[in-house]
Amino acid sequence: IPNKVTNIACIGAGYVGGPTMAVIAQKCPHIKVTVVDINEKRIADWNDIDLSKLPVYEPGLDQVVAESRDRNLFFSTDVEGAIREAQMIFISVNTPTKTYGIGKGMAADLKYVELCARQIADVATEDKIIVEKSTLPVRTAQAIRTIMNAAPARPNSPSPAPRFTVLSNPEFLAEGTAVKDLHNPDRVLIGGEEDEDGQRAIEALATIYANWVPGERILTTRIWSSELSKLTANAFLAQRISSINALSALCEKTGADVDEVAHAIGTDSRIGPKFLKSSVGFGGSCFQKDILNLVYLCRHFNLPEVADYWEQVVKLNDYQKQRFAKQIIDTLFNTVSGKKIAFLGWAFKKDTNDTRESAAIYVADELLQDRAEIHIYDPKVPTERIYADLEYLQQHRRPQAVIADRAKQSDPPETLSSEAIRRLVHVHKTPYAAMEQAHAIAVLTEWDEFRTYDWQKIYDAMRKPAFVFDGRNILNREELNNIGFELQSIGRG
Ligand code: UDX
Ligand code: UDX
Ligand code: ADP
Repeated sequence: IPNKVTNIACIGAGYVGGPTMAVIAQKCPHIKVTVVDINEKRIADWNDIDLSKLPVYEPGLDQVVAESRDRNLFFSTDVEGAIREAQMIFISVNTPTKTYGIGKGMAADLKYVELCARQIADVATEDKIIVEKSTLPVRTAQAIRTIMNAAPARPNSPSPAPRFTVLSNPEFLAEGTAVKDLHNPDRVLIGGEEDEDGQRAIEALATIYANWVPGERILTTRIWSSELSKLTANAFLAQRISSINALSALCEKTGADVDEVAHAIGTDSRIGPKFLKSSVGFGGSCFQKDILNLVYLCRHFNLPEVADYWEQVVKLNDYQKQRFAKQIIDTLFNTVSGKKIAFLGWAFKKDTNDTRESAAIYVADELLQDRAEIHIYDPKVPTERIYADLEYLQQHRRPQAVIADRAKQSDPPETLSSEAIRRLVHVHKTPYAAMEQAHAIAVLTEWDEFRTYDWQKIYDAMRKPAFVFDGRNILNREELNNIGFELQSIGRG
């Protein structure tokens, strides 16, 4: 097993693989880094001379890519070539929640990871360190190793069979701050096997990070602890949001202000101030997926109380999104049919073009069930992405989502046709066009620019009463109230 690495491959050029490898290449000019993907369009976009075309939008990423691309950072579709050359291979492919069969809607779908492992086993002729970078259920490393070690011996090869060792190196970057998080991580976690190969591999990877990360922030653990730490970190973070969102409902009933409560409790050093921002609900590719994964794992090991505890975090999040949509409908005199609702934001958080599991998708769906006309503006999300998100949801509703409440009314949601979606949903190039003649505005993403709009101009062009539903509590309440808006915020009675 190599303990010095000069050539790295990364399989998967997505939100994790792309930025992570760009930063490794930037900080380690002596290492050749090749990022490969089966998606040709994605690779072409990573290679585009126009850096605004990068497939992942992250502040500062264009600079990092510009610095190292074609120096020691390469993007390619030649997966096998990259595997063959590299001493260390990161697996950074997507691991969505299963949409079929056993564990449907809960377990992680490992088919892409498994395919990568098989491909590495088929192609490798020399020893390799395999690094699992995707969020994966506990014991995946073991599964990868089993596949690798079952690789058939090559009778015609003069050299001995290659050896493999698997590391778990979960990524903790948050989208929107990926470059900052990668440059200055709270910690880097490396889990490995306890045998000699495992220890050499850990050292090799730690040496790479040591080029820019202080030694005391590089933590090494057993492989299963590392895998479980990633799920746990995301579960804890999501739990904080569901906790404060649960309280937001109570604040609205009692006349308290959730932001004041959050500030007050956040000053307790045992609680801390971060991740207490009440919102329309968390989104992103990780939180829900990882918790459902944890829940599935607990059920598998016959720990139903533990499973139920964590599942409640997701249920509360579903409730929060549904509550927001319902509040819009209730306020607009119990129907939004034929009414124009403007959405500010579609991404799951600011400073990203990622929309996976964005609260906006679910809120829109609820309003479309009531036949609203939705007019959307988001600074970074492409139009076709928005239609694709809504179309995908029609086919992949989770049973416990939004639906829980509907089931009680014995009124399951309708499956909307693509034609209906395209007729009712309009995407605009400017925020003012989206809000013109609107009956109501809903803020779904906390983009900074929303605060700085000319709100008087927006008011003048809207229908009255001019309702605003601030799902992120970012707008200036006093200013909007003075103009004449009917403003409703999350968690303010
Ligand atoms: C998360 C973890 O933070 C990161 O460490 C992990 O590697 C991947 O998952 P990410 O999903 O990119 O990162 O973004 P994050 O900033 O955690 O936000 C997740 C969601 O929670 C967003 O929808 C965000 O708007 C929401 N959120 C976050 C809140 O509603 N309130 C908060 O206080 C914080
Ligand atoms: C608590 C609050 O901390 C305090 O702010 C409030 O004013 C009163 O309630 P107290 O109950 O005195 O204070 O003690 P605390 O240190 O919070 O411990 C409460 C329980 O939690 C104890 O049984 C303690 O052993 C347990 N605990 C605490 C844990 O099991 N694990 C921990 O990490 C911390
Ligand atoms: P993440 O947020 O985890 O980075 P993404 O979906 O953004 O997830 O990126 C995963 C990438 O992995 C996608 O671009 C996908 O095309 C790629 N991918 C999946 N399976 C393979 C494979 N077997 N070989 C190469 N690339 C793959």
